[in-house]
Amino acid sequence: MQAYRAAIFHPLDDPTTAEGPAHAFHADGLLLVEDGVVVACGAYADLADRLADTPVEAFPGRLITPGFVDTHIHFPQADIIAAHGAQLLDWLEQHTFPAEAAFADPAHAADAAAFFLGQLLRNGTTSALVFGSVHKASVEALFEAALARNMRLIAGKVLMDRHAPPGLCDTVETSRADMLDLIARWHGRGRLGYAVTPRFAISCSDAQLAMAGEVLAQHPGVWLQTHLSENPREIAETAALFPETADYLNVYERFGLVGDRSVFAHGVHLHGDEFERLAKAGSAIAFCPSSNLFLGSGLFDLKGACDHGVKVGIGTDVGAGTSFSVLHTLGEAYKVGQLRGTSLDPFHAFYLATLGGARALNLGDKIGNLEAGKEADFLVLDLAATPLLARRMPLAASLEDKLFALTVLGDDRVVERTYVAGVERHRR
Ligand code: GUN
Ligand code: ZN
Repeated sequence: MQAYRAAIFHPLDDPTTAEGPAHAFHADGLLLVEDGVVVACGAYADLADRLADTPVEAFPGRLITPGFVDTHIHFPQADIIAAHGAQLLDWLEQHTFPAEAAFADPAHAADAAAFFLGQLLRNGTTSALVFGSVHKASVEALFEAALARNMRLIAGKVLMDRHAPPGLCDTVETSRADMLDLIARWHGRGRLGYAVTPRFAISCSDAQLAMAGEVLAQHPGVWLQTHLSENPREIAETAALFPETADYLNVYERFGLVGDRSVFAHGVHLHGDEFERLAKAGSAIAFCPSSNLFLGSGLFDLKGACDHGVKVGIGTDVGAGTSFSVLHTLGEAYKVGQLRGTSLDPFHAFYLATLGGARALNLGDKIGNLEAGKEADFLVLDLAATPLLARRMPLAASLEDKLFALTVLGDDRVVERTYVAGVERHRR
């Protein structure tokens, strides 16, 4: 058994709907872990008699939290973070597609996978739902690297058979074969999962979307991820390509892609009826505020989504997103709320980054908090990691205020250690 002593904070439920307590905080807490799983988490005084002769690793002045869950990120886009001057469709053409073309080379993909997972772990992200490039080899490289780190990671090869450079397009037949092979060899291996990944409606023919729906129906444990209603020009072009559909979401509905294992990135311009249908289907939205601000896509209606009962997680959406840090992304989510006239509550923010994200991925029974039986993905945070944090934190009047300051001022510098299934995988 392993034992860790520090202040501990973890969400227990969605604070916007919970009837009981929505989080637990132990100023002097103890976390007990065995075989990669949480055995107990509570006040040191209550659990100390269960220690027997287990050595205790103490982190005075530190805060233990669950690992972060990033519900939307692109593995092949780390190198195009901070590309100047374009909105979504031009950004894809000018920056994204050329960068993704490089992932035809397995050596480049392997090198990029090690860097990418290193960035996730140093930022405290222990689980993610990830877009690969169109190349099967890109996802293989990522799965290989994630398996070596025992991460709970879901990924898929992007499907795109039109409206992209010829070298980056697949076909219905090649993409079906690649997907089936990746599912057979990687889905359920270690903590890995496969997601059917049509890029978005513009880049997939009717036949490819129909094939994606068939593969999904034949593999009930597999996820679905795509983009939805991100940018006005994208929405207009989608409507022109699918004139017979009622709205953007209806494109995906028609092909059987909207279910309780589906995660839609963005949803910035959805209306109430689409929120309602997403909620009814049990689908989730990945809220990607840094990306939505960077590309000028718009201001996501988090309150509207939550009021309709849609599951929501946080997505960094690197490389349109500007940071791998989920903490930083929560700070951006707050600013989006301010521009819409609603202030994101810090407890709600941390819920979205952990248990909410886990539930968005249908993994709420395995990850997202530190209740007994959960997989032991957790962080040791240094709340005084920078001179500014060291000055600001002691002035925080409450836990809520501390958490809020962390989201506004924090990033990878506050993540002192990252544990994945009970094993330390990053130390600052
Ligand atoms: N829509 C289709 N592809 C992409 C992508 O790579 N990034 C973002 N932000 N939106 C997309
Ligand atoms: Zn994206």
